[in-house]
Amino acid sequence: MLYILDTGNLKDIRHCKAFYPLAGVTTNPSIIAREKTDFWNLVKDIRSVIGAEKMLHVQTVQTTAEKMVEEAQIIKERIGGNLYIKIPIGEEGLKATMELQKLGIGVTMTAIFTPAQALIAAKAGADFVAPYVNRLDNIIGDGSRVVAEIVQVLEAHRLDCKVLAASFKNAQQVHKCAMAGCQSVTVSADILKAIITHPMTDVAVAGFQKDWQAAYGEQTILEL
Ligand code: G3P
Repeated sequence: MLYILDTGNLKDIRHCKAFYPLAGVTTNPSIIAREKTDFWNLVKDIRSVIGAEKMLHVQTVQTTAEKMVEEAQIIKERIGGNLYIKIPIGEEGLKATMELQKLGIGVTMTAIFTPAQALIAAKAGADFVAPYVNRLDNIIGDGSRVVAEIVQVLEAHRLDCKVLAASFKNAQQVHKCAMAGCQSVTVSADILKAIITHPMTDVAVAGFQKDWQAAYGEQTILEL
C-alpha cells in the first residue's frame, strides 16, 4: 500500500513526510487554489520538500489533448523527479494519455467513478487510476465496492495500472479500499492521524507509563 498525501499545504507535507511512510503527494486544481499562492513556486516547493524520489501528481487544467500534452511537458521540465500528470477521464484525456505514454511521461487518470472508466483509462496507458470514494458514498453509491471492482477488472485483464483511491472522509473508507487490494490511497493529514489513533492504544500507553514511573520514577532506560 502506498500512502500519498492529498494536499498542497507545505506544513502538512513537512509534518507527514517526517512522521509517516509517505510515498508522495497528489494535488488537483482545487487543492492548489486553496493555498492562494503562486502555482509554480508552490509546486517547486512541494518537490523540494519531498525530494526527487517521492511521487508528485500534478493535474493539468487544459481541456484539449494537444494542450494537455504541452502542459504536461512543461510541468515535467520545470518540476521533474518522480512525476505523474493527472488528467480527468474523457476523450481528450484519453488521447493525451496515449501521447504521454509514448513520451514516457507518467499519467494518473482522475475523476474516475466506474470500473468501466478505469479499464479504458488503463488500456490508454494510464499508470494510475484515481476513483473518488467519498464522492460516491455521498450519493449513496458504494465507493469501496467500486474500488474493489476496479482492482478486479485490472487484474482480470492483466493491466499494469495501479489504483490510487482518492476522496476520503474517514479511516474506514481507506481500510475498505486496502482490504479490496487497492495499491495506493491519497488522503489528508487528518485521515493519516485517524488511521493510527485508537482510544485503547492511548489507555495501553498510559498504563505502561504509570507502571514504569511507579518503579523507576522519571528515569528512562537511557539513564539506567
Ligand atoms: O484529487 C481527488 C480528491 O482530492 C478529491 O477529494 O475530498 O475533493 O472529494 P474530495
